[in-house]
Amino acid sequence: MGEPKNEIFMEILDGIVENPYIGIIMVDTEGNINKVNKTYLEILGLTEEDVIDKHVLDITPHSRLPEVLKTKEVHLADHWPVNNHDTIVFRMPLYKDGKLIGAMGQSLVLDAAGVKILSKKLRELEGELAVYKDVVNSIYRSKNSFDNIVGEDTRLQAVKSIAERAAYTGSTILLRGESGTGKDLFANAIHKASPRADQPFIRVNCAALPDQLLESELFGYEEGAFTGARKGGKPGKFELANRGTIFLDEIGDMPMTMQSKLLIVLQEREVERVGGTKPIAVDVQVIAASNRPLEDMIKKGKFREDLYYRLNVVSLEVPPLRERAQDIGLLANYLVPKLNQRLHSSVESISPEAIHLLCNYDWPGNVRELENLLERAMNLADLNQQKTLNPEHFPSLSRLVTPPTVEVAVTDHLGDAVEQVEMETIRRVLAKTNNNKAKAAKILGLNKSVLYRKLYKYGLISKSDLDRVEI
Ligand SMILES: Nc1ncnc2c1ncn2[C@@H]1O[C@H](COP(=O)(O)OP(=O)(O)O)[C@@H](O)[C@H]1O
Ligand SMILES: [Mg+2]
Repeated sequence: MGEPKNEIFMEILDGIVENPYIGIIMVDTEGNINKVNKTYLEILGLTEEDVIDKHVLDITPHSRLPEVLKTKEVHLADHWPVNNHDTIVFRMPLYKDGKLIGAMGQSLVLDAAGVKILSKKLRELEGELAVYKDVVNSIYRSKNSFDNIVGEDTRLQAVKSIAERAAYTGSTILLRGESGTGKDLFANAIHKASPRADQPFIRVNCAALPDQLLESELFGYEEGAFTGARKGGKPGKFELANRGTIFLDEIGDMPMTMQSKLLIVLQEREVERVGGTKPIAVDVQVIAASNRPLEDMIKKGKFREDLYYRLNVVSLEVPPLRERAQDIGLLANYLVPKLNQRLHSSVESISPEAIHLLCNYDWPGNVRELENLLERAMNLADLNQQKTLNPEHFPSLSRLVTPPTVEVAVTDHLGDAVEQVEMETIRRVLAKTNNNKAKAAKILGLNKSVLYRKLYKYGLISKSDLDRVEI
């Protein structure tokens, strides 16, 4: 390396050493400090003169660098408090020409600036993860078809056969049913069974986005439509779904202004991008879904009656699980191997005794809750490498099936007893409100997010359900 290049290299190295996020300290083979960067000095609250050439144990009496010098071991990511600062420390011996010349410690500071940077990174990663989850979900789900909608209940069978016919005719469909009954599953199956199966299936969650975002999400926008608009504009979901199916989920949560705009699109079968001037023709099958009481909402002026009729060409009501309890066994037998594929657990099946337990449980939830419960049980069984789910893997249910009178005597531990009563009460109120969590929260006198956290704790919802609510 020539001299100027070497200088540049040294400057870069200096830049790396002098950064505000990582404290760096180096000692010689005796343990005397020969280099400290500004960040580390700040952590110590000392100046360079205070520390250079001093023994590291005189400056930080608990330092483990002498140990590194002795053992020549590398310490990776040690959580270490330095002078009341939380840090993550890496320690390593330093060699030159194969000879030990000292040791170095790098401390990632976990407060103020450090935390800000880390949490920003985390948020970015979580955002990315959510996108990938959606993609994975859509790939995974597009494999579903009517065969994967399990149940012998006559009402469910009737809904399936009407759905199959509507898939064929391409009529607009309105799916109704409580959360977790299988509306998404139906929408996917309809698309798969339709002549549009090779074309896109695009799902839009109308509840997830605020008004203006929903509009550009659905209809797209032109370049320069607003500050931050992407160069070249962006197609909306309707355009993306062209020749395929658009699934408007949670339609009952769509704001009124958007309902009017959607109605026009459904009538004209063309969309206009935000900031655009010319309409774009779209050929899509529309499936909408909601768990809200749309008829009541119309009376209260919260949902447009004309939109309702435009959507409700074919009306499908998916029955809740408690009204088809005889399907619980079938579902459990179907879901365990399916979950096993995803979880790579040891569990391959579920015993008749466990199914009996599930069937005798006064069910407040739907298939999603059943799935969550099975997943928890499988994790438990997997810990002992068991192949079959047994009643013991459903500790929350075994306790619930005991009479709902307040049997605090079951346990003498006060905390456990309180939890039992709490879980029992929540379960009862959920059953009373048809699993309407907002209503249940009100009756229970709980904040909705507190209720969700408790539901998660007792295995009645999954982590992702919880996260969705907490965002
Ligand atoms: N009849 C069914 N057979 C098999 N799995 C089902 C059935 N109904 C629902 N599920 C599963 O339960 C979960 C929740 O269903 P989903 O379609 O998301 O409900 P919704 O959209 O009504 O909230 C999904 O994992 C789905 O695959
Ligand atoms: Mg859904």
